[in-house]
Amino acid sequence: MTDAPHLIEVRNLVKRFPIGGGLFSRSHKVVHAVSDVSFHIARGETLSLVGESGCGKSTVGKCLARLIPLTEGEITLDGQRIDGLSRSQMKPVRKRLNVVFQDPFSSLNPRMTVEDLVAEPLRSHGMARTRAERHARVGDLLEKVGLAREAMARMPHQFSGGQRQRICIARALASEPDIIICDEAVSALDVSVQAQIINLLMDLQKDLGLALLFISHDLAVVEHMSDRIAVMYLGRIMEIADRESLFRHPRHPYTRALLSAVPLPDPEADRDRAVLTGDVPSPIDPPSGCFFRTRCPMATDRCAAEVPALRDMGAGHMSACHYAEDV
Ligand SMILES: Nc1ncnc2c1ncn2[C@@H]1O[C@H](COP(=O)(O)OP(=O)(O)O)[C@@H](O)[C@H]1O
Ligand SMILES: [Mg+2]
Repeated sequence: MTDAPHLIEVRNLVKRFPIGGGLFSRSHKVVHAVSDVSFHIARGETLSLVGESGCGKSTVGKCLARLIPLTEGEITLDGQRIDGLSRSQMKPVRKRLNVVFQDPFSSLNPRMTVEDLVAEPLRSHGMARTRAERHARVGDLLEKVGLAREAMARMPHQFSGGQRQRICIARALASEPDIIICDEAVSALDVSVQAQIINLLMDLQKDLGLALLFISHDLAVVEHMSDRIAVMYLGRIMEIADRESLFRHPRHPYTRALLSAVPLPDPEADRDRAVLTGDVPSPIDPPSGCFFRTRCPMATDRCAAEVPALRDMGAGHMSACHYAEDV
C-alpha cells in the first residue's frame, strides 16, 4: 500500500532576493528570505506559520501560491509538481489554491460592486455561465461568509474592515478551492472582529473540508485554530508540531521564548519565562550554523559550526535544535 500524497508538499524551498546597490554598484547582495523550508499540509488541515516580522512567512505563502518564482525547491499539489508550471498551466491550480491578504482595502477594487468582485473568479474559471447563475451563486457565497445577499449591490468602501475581509473570503471561496492561504488575514482587525473571522474560517473549513495555511506573527491568534504549527526564524523552520504538543512541550529555545511572550490567562501559572534579547540578525548576512544561536541562551560552539537539521522528536514533533532533548 502506498501513502496518498499530502494535499501540499513543500520540499527544500529556498527564496533569495538579489538586491542591487544602485545603478552603478557592483555589489550583489542577496536577502536570504527563505532557506531550505519543508512542510506538508493534509487535506482539510490548518497549518499555521508563525514568527516575528521579516522571518519569511509571506515569502513562503507567495511562493506556494506562485505569486513569485522560487529560487530552489519543489512544491506539489496532490502529488503534482506546480513549481515549474507556466502561467497558463497554473490556471487550473489557481482555482484550487487561493490567497486572502492582510489588507482588505487594497485587495478589493474600489470601483467594482461586491457582486462583480465575488463573480470575477466564477467568470474567470467558467464556473457559472449565465448572469443569473452568477447572481445566485454570489448571493449564496455572501450568506456563507455571514453577509446579507443584498450586500452585493454595494461598493467595498461601504463596509467595515471585518466585513471587507468577509468579502475577500467569499471571493477566495468562489472557485471552490482545496486550500486558502491566509496571510495575516486578521492582523489589521480589532481583537473581537479577529475572533469572528477566525470562527468563520474554522466553520467554513469544517463545512467544506478546506485546508488552510494560516500565516500570523501572533502565536496567541493561531492557538485555537491550528492543527499544526510551524515556527519560523530568519527564513528557516525551527520547530513544527501539533498545536498541543507545541504549546505544552516546545522543543526549541526560540519557540519557548515566543511562548513566554504570550500573555497567560493565569498570572500565577508556573512557566519559567525565557525573554528574547538582542536583535534579529540581517537576512543579508545570517549567522553561521544555527540562525538563532546569536540570541539563544543555550548556544554552544557546535551551534556556530553546524546547521541543526529538523529532527523528529516523536509523533511528528520536529525541532531544529542540537539540544532539543534538553529544551
Ligand atoms: N521583493 C523583495 N525584495 C527584497 N527583499 C524582500 C522582498 N520581499 C521580502 N523581502 C525580505 O525577505 C525577508 C522576509 O520577508 P517576508 O516574507 O515578507 O517576512 P514576513 O512575512 O515573515 O514578515 C525580509 O527580510 C524582507 O525584507
Ligand atoms: Mg508578512
